[in-house]
Amino acid sequence: MSGIVFMKTKDLEKISTFYQDKIGMELWQDQEQCKIFEKGNLQLGFCQSNKIENDGIITYYFKDKKAVDKFYEKISVDLEITKEPQVNNDFNIYQFFAKDPEDRTLEFQAFLHKLNPHLTGKELLLNRRSYRKFKDEEIPENILNKVIDLSRFAPTSMNSQSYYFKFITDEELICDLASIRKTASEPIKKAPMAVAICSDNEQSNRYKQDADIAAYHFMLAARLYNLGTCWIADMDRESIKSKLNIPMEHYIATITPLGFIDNEIEAPERKPKENYIK
Ligand SMILES: Cc1cc2nc3c(=O)[nH]c(=O)nc-3n(C[C@H](O)[C@H](O)[C@H](O)COP(=O)(O)O)c2cc1C
Repeated sequence: MSGIVFMKTKDLEKISTFYQDKIGMELWQDQEQCKIFEKGNLQLGFCQSNKIENDGIITYYFKDKKAVDKFYEKISVDLEITKEPQVNNDFNIYQFFAKDPEDRTLEFQAFLHKLNPHLTGKELLLNRRSYRKFKDEEIPENILNKVIDLSRFAPTSMNSQSYYFKFITDEELICDLASIRKTASEPIKKAPMAVAICSDNEQSNRYKQDADIAAYHFMLAARLYNLGTCWIADMDRESIKSKLNIPMEHYIATITPLGFIDNEIEAPERKPKENYIK
């Protein structure tokens, strides 16, 4: 289930322009007398009426204080600011307030305390990174179970579901695996856990593709819970299989470190989209 908050406006045109041009929301559905906008997980609808509904607060939140300041710099020139950016100790948040053209209160904030993760599909695809540093924090079993549960929905050849995971927590084994490809495999020892994503050659004719895709599916699922991963290549080796009790005929797509994300990292630069079409 998803949700939308609807409000009445006397000037749908003006409000549409404001939320798109000033706030950066995107038009999701145009029902003519009502328009629905979205930004991140927020869906907001405005309907043409002879009255204005402007109670409550519309709150937008950013990943950190720096992002709030950056947005403030951008919009404070042509928005009515009612409270400058500052820490609100009651809620441990950093916030500023503004008004929309019909006097609705807009709040822009960052939570300064730990948050339960919440990512839209678009944010997930944009924010998955290769993490090489992690928090020194155990991964609760219930979170790990949620990630595995989602990982069951990876596509496989003829729905063979030939892939499986091996969770490695033994410190000595982790250090050993981390040393196999020198700096390339080093991220493995920075996390409390390593995960080998493997597949069984007897269960699928395309067992290598099954495991490769499942590994990426696992990485996306993990990111939903603030767990970082990093694809470590070239781990399909006999020496590793014997250490992990994996049959020699099976395939190891990757062994990824798995741990809570320490710091958000910028995406390494991508080529413009024209480069991807040949
Ligand atoms: C097939 C493949 C092999 C990779 N091998 C390694 C590796 O051995 N060690 C490592 O630290 N990162 C490895 N990476 C991660 C890439 O360096 C990373 O995906 C790339 O720099 C883009 O950054 P991003 O994943 O944060 O967007 C690999 C990624 C892929 C897809």
